[in-house]
Amino acid sequence: MTKRLLLLPGDGIGPEVTAQARRVAERLADLGRLDLAIEERPFGGAAYEAQGAPLPAATLEAALASDAVLMGAVGGPKWAAAPRDLRPEAGLLGLRRAMQVFANLRPAICFAPLADASTLKREVVAGLDLMIVRELTGGVYFGEPRGIATLPNGQRRGVDTQVYTTGEIERVARVAFVLARARRNLVTSCEKSNVMESGLLWREVVSDLHAREFSDVRLEHMLADNAAMQLVRAPTQFDVILTDNLFGDLLSDEAAQLTGSIGLLPSAALGAPGRPGLYEPIHGSAPDIAGQGVANPVAAILSLEMALRWSLGRPDLADRLSAAVSRALAAGARTRDLGGALTTAQMGEAVLAAL
Ligand code: IPM
Ligand code: MG
Repeated sequence: MTKRLLLLPGDGIGPEVTAQARRVAERLADLGRLDLAIEERPFGGAAYEAQGAPLPAATLEAALASDAVLMGAVGGPKWAAAPRDLRPEAGLLGLRRAMQVFANLRPAICFAPLADASTLKREVVAGLDLMIVRELTGGVYFGEPRGIATLPNGQRRGVDTQVYTTGEIERVARVAFVLARARRNLVTSCEKSNVMESGLLWREVVSDLHAREFSDVRLEHMLADNAAMQLVRAPTQFDVILTDNLFGDLLSDEAAQLTGSIGLLPSAALGAPGRPGLYEPIHGSAPDIAGQGVANPVAAILSLEMALRWSLGRPDLADRLSAAVSRALAAGARTRDLGGALTTAQMGEAVLAAL
């Protein structure tokens, strides 16, 4: 059966890193007898420029018809002044919403040969292997009302709404509990139930679901500000961190830095079973190094690894790919972000050689 992989290279270093992921995908398809149809579509600022919209209708259609979508990166200073609903970020939020990918898996793993690349001490980050499960299609990112209005007294007033329903909390919490069972069996649920109503509901719903269906999993509740501190104090205490859209955005950037390079970390956004997943590196479009061929393609390549595991039905090839990446790193393959001198293409070749 043919599996369809849609590439959305996007902006900045996005096209450079997805080109390497594509080479790896083609090689793996050959090696593993995977019937893979790869397509590319415009997305983000590039699509805004070419077609006047960051998420063209044909791109969305192709995404919904695929098995997995692998995105590079979107955004950049070039589009800072574009109308808000036409900015690259709006395209990304629109894609997440349309694909209904409510559970965002963001691993933070400290690869043994890179334990000294973190700004934290080796003994704090060595052995780190945590997974953030971020709610991705609700909360303050999408809540209504929102907007900026001018008041009668001339002042302006900006509003965003943090809102969650029982169903939205339960479906993402379920993903976290199921993942934990296959890991170290611990879920740390983070919110601000001490000040926020939606946080209080979050805690109650997670506790109820835990009691009903997942009492074999250890559940801890932690206030999100404390979680931010614990992540730099003792990050290896965590296994699965379950949190909302905004706190997940912040905590996942913090967790990424623990590992030494944001250039290594992939992510997966999953919806209901059988629906296509959206895969993307955690890093952004890095306009400062775009076009130089020096970006690290490993995050994009590991995003392909997650796609093989969660959407393309080939966990065996995912295992093979992740072993190849580890071997390439252990053998000393390093792009500039890791203190090395390999180009983007050479790093891709190092992974291909390890495969
Ligand atoms: C992320 C990014 C996005 C977000 C931006 C680009 C809209 O920071 O994926 O973490 O805030 O979700
Ligand atoms: Mg972010």
